[in-house]
Amino acid sequence: MCTVILFHILSPNDSSLSHLPTLLATHHYCLCSNKQEYKTDRFALLKFKESVPQDPYNILSSWNDSMHFCNWLGVKCGRRHQRVTVLDLQGHKLGGTLSPYIGNLSFLRSIILQNNSFYGEIPQEIGHLFRLQQLYLSNNTLEGEIPSSLSNCSNLKFLYLLQNKLEGKIPTELGSLMKLKLLRLGRNNLVGGIPHSLGNLSSLTKFGVAENNLVGNIPDAIGQLNGLVFFTISVNKLSGTIPSSLYNVSSLQIFSVSFNQLNGTLPANIGLNLPNLQIFYFGANEFSGPIPTSLCNATQLQQIYLAKNKFLGSVPTNLGNLPNLLKLVLSINYLGKSLHFLTSLTNCSRLQKLDL
Ligand SMILES: *[C@@H]1O[C@H](CO)[C@@H](O)[C@H](O)[C@H]1NC(C)=O
Ligand SMILES: *[C@@H]1O[C@H](CO)[C@@H](O)[C@H](O)[C@H]1NC(C)=O
Ligand SMILES: *[C@@H]1O[C@H](CO)[C@@H](O)[C@H](O)[C@H]1NC(C)=O
Ligand SMILES: *[C@@H]1O[C@H](CO)[C@@H](O)[C@H](O)[C@H]1NC(C)=O
Ligand SMILES: *[C@@H]1O[C@H](CO)[C@@H](O)[C@H](O)[C@H]1NC(C)=O
Ligand SMILES: *[C@@H]1O[C@H](CO)[C@@H](O)[C@H](O)[C@H]1NC(C)=O
Ligand SMILES: *[C@@H]1O[C@H](CO)[C@@H](O)[C@H](O)[C@H]1NC(C)=O
Ligand SMILES: *[C@@H]1O[C@H](CO)[C@@H](O)[C@H](O)[C@H]1NC(C)=O
Ligand SMILES: *[C@@H]1O[C@H](CO)[C@@H](O)[C@H](O)[C@H]1NC(C)=O
Repeated sequence: MCTVILFHILSPNDSSLSHLPTLLATHHYCLCSNKQEYKTDRFALLKFKESVPQDPYNILSSWNDSMHFCNWLGVKCGRRHQRVTVLDLQGHKLGGTLSPYIGNLSFLRSIILQNNSFYGEIPQEIGHLFRLQQLYLSNNTLEGEIPSSLSNCSNLKFLYLLQNKLEGKIPTELGSLMKLKLLRLGRNNLVGGIPHSLGNLSSLTKFGVAENNLVGNIPDAIGQLNGLVFFTISVNKLSGTIPSSLYNVSSLQIFSVSFNQLNGTLPANIGLNLPNLQIFYFGANEFSGPIPTSLCNATQLQQIYLAKNKFLGSVPTNLGNLPNLLKLVLSINYLGKSLHFLTSLTNCSRLQKLDL
């Protein structure tokens, strides 16, 4: 189609056009090429719609010729180029597969499809979307592996694949997504280990892989993530010790490793090096040694779960330093019978749960 128009403008048979400057021809050509891309976006959206047979609220019926696709429900375009930049159809009970044509929406920055019933695999073609910053696919029933092609989405900041049926290993290649801030892969059927390469994700603030079938050690490299606020690996089959460098990530607020096979002792200065701790879930592992008194120097602590381990000695008597403490669960350990610490709890006026 483009060549036809070009030919027409430059045709020597057409005397009225033959003297037109090349600039105009080039300009015309550009408009034409935009039109082609315009058609690609519209076509890709229609292909997306085609693969979504369940649409109980008729959300996608608005995707018809009565409106420009930039005005279709859940679609946002860049103002100047009229190319699709956002696809937001979260929580509409949509059921279907993710069409590989989504990879043709080359200006997409955000794919927001969580809380639906998408099934099938995440198409490899998503790796073509190098402008993509947000991929939200949580709470669907997606299966298959996490495509390693995602590593080509070098602008990705938010990757939420929580609560699906994803299998296979966490791709090592994700370690090259240098802008990634949030990586949430929890509640899937992932196997294998936590890749060392993830220690390169220096922008990461939230890392969550809870409720999978992960095995092996926590790589030392994870302790390099020194902006980490949220670290949760609970309910897996991880073993070995927690890298000591992780106990030095002072930004940590939520530190959750419960229900694994981890062992080792807590460092004596834990509460001094992790002053921002709010949630400390270390239950149902094989941790041993004393509960360090310094834990109570982390005065923001709200929840402490240490049950079902091999902790020894006495409970710190400075729990009264924790004005926000809501839950303290210490049951099934080898802690001494001394109840001195109970008096200090009189300061914890918000305490809701105490399980010894
Ligand atoms: C097309 O979309 C318009 C605007 O959302 C809607 O009012 C109309 O019912 C749709 N037409 C069909 C045939 O679904
Ligand atoms: C879009 O994507 C599909 C499937 O990934 C591909 O076959 C097709 O050639 C692409 N291009 C256009 C212009 O639709
Ligand atoms: C999904 O829906 C639930 C219930 O409506 C809501 O609480 C939750 O925030 C939603 N999740 C996401 C990721 O949007
Ligand atoms: C998952 O999505 C469904 C809607 O499809 C919603 O009802 C449910 O609350 C969501 N669950 C969570 C945990 O967000
Ligand atoms: C990433 O992009 C490059 C170049 O665009 C391509 O050759 C490569 O196959 C892509 N990798 C994946 C895993 O899709
Ligand atoms: C981390 O990135 C550097 C380059 O930035 C690379 O040389 C190294 O292999 C990466 N480490 C891992 C564990 O992937
Ligand atoms: C943790 O920080 C302390 C100083 O607060 C330092 O002595 C120690 O070497 C650090 N440990 C690691 C593993 O980085
Ligand atoms: C840690 O808490 C104790 C009281 O339990 C207090 O004496 C000590 O000064 C605190 N240390 C720091 C560095 O805040
Ligand atoms: C209760 O808190 C006050 C002020 O924070 C502190 O001085 C006192 O030692 C605490 N009492 C106990 C029993 O921890």
